Amino acid sequence: MSDTAPFVRVSGVSKIFDGDRAHGSIHVIDNVSMDIGTGEFVVYLGPSGCGKTTLMRIVGGLETATDGIVDLAGERVTGPDRHKGMVFQAYTSFPWLTVYENILFGTKYRTDINDTEKAEVSRHYLDLVGLGEFSEFFVNRISGGMRQRVAIARTLAAGPDILLMDEPFGALDAQTREFLQVQLLEISRIEKKAVIFVTHDVEEAVFLADRIFIFSARPATIVEEVPVKDTIPGRRTLETKETEEFFHLRNHVRNVMLAQTKAMEMIDVPTGDAE
Ligand SMILES: Nc1ncnc2c1ncn2[C@@H]1O[C@H](COP(=O)(O)OP(=O)(O)OP(=O)(O)O)[C@@H](O)[C@H]1O
Ligand SMILES: [Mg+2]
Repeated sequence: MSDTAPFVRVSGVSKIFDGDRAHGSIHVIDNVSMDIGTGEFVVYLGPSGCGKTTLMRIVGGLETATDGIVDLAGERVTGPDRHKGMVFQAYTSFPWLTVYENILFGTKYRTDINDTEKAEVSRHYLDLVGLGEFSEFFVNRISGGMRQRVAIARTLAAGPDILLMDEPFGALDAQTREFLQVQLLEISRIEKKAVIFVTHDVEEAVFLADRIFIFSARPATIVEEVPVKDTIPGRRTLETKETEEFFHLRNHVRNVMLAQTKAMEMIDVPTGDAE
């Protein structure tokens, strides 16, 4: 349980996707509940295909739960809006716009600030993700890591209450990924926004999370809640990964994950379906 007031409340959420002629119905999430505190960094970790993205999409209002409810900042989630900022694995920036224009685009639907403020906000996030010098570059001329920083800045510029990140660094090389992990921790420390970060990378999960929710094989339940922050308090740097606490926690989480991944392999016998 978090030490701050619950900001997100997921209560008894289940999800069953209806089948069609070719596929039977599929029970993806089974009665999952969790509270997430204001400014808390939560990671969803679990085997491929277990339902992490589905639960995150339900929190984001992109998918409806079959059962259960989600409240965000005291309001029932019924659909997507700018209060729920999403960053995905695939690069979602506009190649025909510059870095700055992409970030400014994030403010487009805001009615709480005027055009001057939108420009200021965009500049602020441009600098926060360290792309100030690249503001006039078109995004098809910058690296994948930089494009993900543009996506993060654009999402923040929309003024969300929570960041929902679905394997945002999954397509990046190891060095770029580590660099962005550190930068993301810094951003979340400064912005104090709740983050739900989906990954199936154990090391990434332990490094980033205040708390990890480890998902079971389908239908997903929470097999373990790991209070990482209690074991690794304070600011994290790349040196944190070299500590004994990190090493032990990572091994523990890896073992729990391994059991679930094996269980998942028993369920997901390849059928030729596209995931
Ligand atoms: N719209 C849909 N209709 C039917 N089945 C779906 C739909 N979306 C997801 N599924 C199925 O639900 C299950 C969970 O999918 P989900 O994408 O949530 O898993 P995941 O944990 O995010 O996996 P990965 O780690 O591979 O991204 C999968 O078997 C998937 O095929
Ligand atoms: Mg997924």
